[in-house]
Amino acid sequence: QAIRPHAGAWQGRRVLVTAGPTFEDVDPVRFIGNRSSGKMGFAVAQAAAEQGAEVVLVAGPVVLATPPGVRRVDVRSAAQMREAVMANLDGVDTFIAAAAVADYRPMQASAQKIKKGEGPLQLALERTDDILAQVAAHPRRPARVIGFAAETERLDEYATRKLRDKNLDAVAANDVSAAGLGFESEDNALALFTPDGRSDIGPASKAEVARILLQRIHALGTTAA
Ligand code: CTP
Ligand code: CA
Repeated sequence: QAIRPHAGAWQGRRVLVTAGPTFEDVDPVRFIGNRSSGKMGFAVAQAAAEQGAEVVLVAGPVVLATPPGVRRVDVRSAAQMREAVMANLDGVDTFIAAAAVADYRPMQASAQKIKKGEGPLQLALERTDDILAQVAAHPRRPARVIGFAAETERLDEYATRKLRDKNLDAVAANDVSAAGLGFESEDNALALFTPDGRSDIGPASKAEVARILLQRIHALGTTAA
């Protein structure tokens, strides 16, 4: 009997995932970044591929192995991540934005290393584009658009606001102030917000959390009220 390595619930579906931080250059030796290991997004990409999806993973600067069967596109800045996402949007069924994208970048990266002076240094920052919001508003919007939300307070309020304001199908929210979870941790716990309400996932390994998250995303819009 033939072995079918990719039989699963996501067979034949295209899934686009963003993961990791973005780095916004200040000068040739410095950048503005954020605390994201990329592990949660990579776990989501791996779980989707294991379930038979055709997965493209747009990854910021992380030190992680590419999950088997996943096509990986490496980027550094928010602008590059946006470019890579838009270039791979065609035919995507589900977009999952797990990346911690910089909200601001230096208005102008200095061509030379900035030398230190006596007083404080002022850096002018400008907003980056919201990749998730742009995908959700795109003429070729995927059927399912899922965001993440890292919050240190008022999790329900902020996550449901992101769900509504960005026109998403679900928001997977992380309480990043919880001890031992999120960021560099191997474990995670998520609160999944959909128009139907909140359901919790974990705490469990990021691999297990990713599998449950994908099950819930797969079931979106198919459950009877
Ligand atoms: N996101 C994105 N592009 C950005 C900023 C955020 O695609 N420029 C996505 C993230 O990948 C995540 C979601 O938007 O899926 C929410 O990110 P988060 O930082 O929690 O929310 P923001 O909308 O940026 O709001 P704030 O940082 O003010 O809480
Ligand atoms: Ca943000």
